[in-house]
Amino acid sequence: MNGSSHRFCVAPMMDWTDRHCRVLHRLLTTRALLYTEMVTAEAVIRGDRERLIGFDPFEQPVALQLGGSEPLRLAEAARIGADFGYSEINLNVGCPSDRVQSGRFGACLMREPNLVGDCIAAMSAAVSVPVTVKCRIGVDDQDPEVALRAMLAACTAAGVDTFAIHARKAWLEGLSPKENRDVPPLDYELVYRIKRENPALSIVINGGIESLDEAERHMEKVDGVMLGRVAYQSPAMLAEVDARFFGEAPPSVDDAVEGYLDYVSRKLPEGVPLNAMTRHMLGLFHGRPGARLFRRHLSENATKRGAGLSVLRDALAFLAPTRVAA
Ligand SMILES: Cc1cc2nc3c(=O)[nH]c(=O)nc-3n(C[C@H](O)[C@H](O)[C@H](O)COP(=O)(O)O)c2cc1C
Repeated sequence: MNGSSHRFCVAPMMDWTDRHCRVLHRLLTTRALLYTEMVTAEAVIRGDRERLIGFDPFEQPVALQLGGSEPLRLAEAARIGADFGYSEINLNVGCPSDRVQSGRFGACLMREPNLVGDCIAAMSAAVSVPVTVKCRIGVDDQDPEVALRAMLAACTAAGVDTFAIHARKAWLEGLSPKENRDVPPLDYELVYRIKRENPALSIVINGGIESLDEAERHMEKVDGVMLGRVAYQSPAMLAEVDARFFGEAPPSVDDAVEGYLDYVSRKLPEGVPLNAMTRHMLGLFHGRPGARLFRRHLSENATKRGAGLSVLRDALAFLAPTRVAA
C-alpha cells in the first residue's frame, strides 16, 4: 500500500462541501483528506477568488477540485489554487451534468484521455503540490475495461500517481446527475483489478460506500476510500475515522460541536448567515434523542434574517441527555 494521505477522503460535492462544511468535518477528523466543491478553471481565473476558493488553514489537508479542459487555463487555475495553499489540485473527470458537458469537461472527458493527459501535464508543470484525478470507469457505451485503463495510462504518462475512481459509468444520455450517482451499476472489482495491475499507483475507491465497516473492507484491496453522501448526511461517522484508520485519539462529537460553535460565533460578525453554517450540521445527531427537534429548530429558524448563535444553542438544547454544554 502507498502512503496514508488518501486512506480516507471526503468526496468533493457541489453546494455541500463548502468551506463551512469542511471546518465541521475537520473538527470531527484531523486525518481525512477533504475536497472542495468543483470550481471551474475560468471561475478561478476570472471570479471573486476569495469567495470561490478562500479557505481556513484549519481545514488542511484540503484539495482543490478544478473543472475544465483547456490545459493552459487549468494550469493557471492550478497555480492560483496552489498559491492559496491547497495541498493538492484535483481534476474532475466525473461530473455528468449538462452544463458541464457543454463546457467539454467532467465525465465526458472520459472519451478524451489524451486531452486529459495534456491538462494534467500543464497543471503539474505549474505547481509543486500533487495533481490528482477523479474519474468514472467510463461513459455511455464505452467498455470500462478499456476506457478506464486508457485514462489511467494517459494520466500516469503525464505524471499523476493518485486516482479517485467513482466505480460506475456515467450515462450522459438520459440520466440526471442525481440518477448518475445511483443507477449505473457499481463495479468495485474493476477498481481492485486496476490496483493489482498498478501497485505503484495510489487508487482511491468511491461510490456507494455506506459505512466504515465497508470502507475497511475496501482498504484491503485499494489504497484509500472516498465517501460522499453518507459522510455529509451522517457526519458523526467522521469522528471514528482517526481512531479506526489512523490509530489516533478520536475527537468527540461534543467537542467538535463546541469547536463549531466557536467558529460560528467568529463568522457571524463577518456577515456569514447562520444557516450557511448550520445546514451542514442537520444530520450530525442522527439517531440521538432530540435529533429531530434539533433539526427542525434549525430548519425553521436558522434562515430567518439576523438569526444568531442563540438559534443554534436553542437547537442544541433539544438534545438529551449527553448534549454538549452550550
Ligand atoms: C450534491 C453532490 C454534489 C457533487 N458534486 C461533485 C463535484 O463537485 N465534483 C465531483 O467530482 N463529484 C461530485 N459529486 C459526486 C461525489 O463526489 C461522489 O463521487 C458520488 O456522490 C459517489 O460517492 P458516494 O456514493 O459516496 O456519495 C457530487 C455528489 C453529490 C451528492
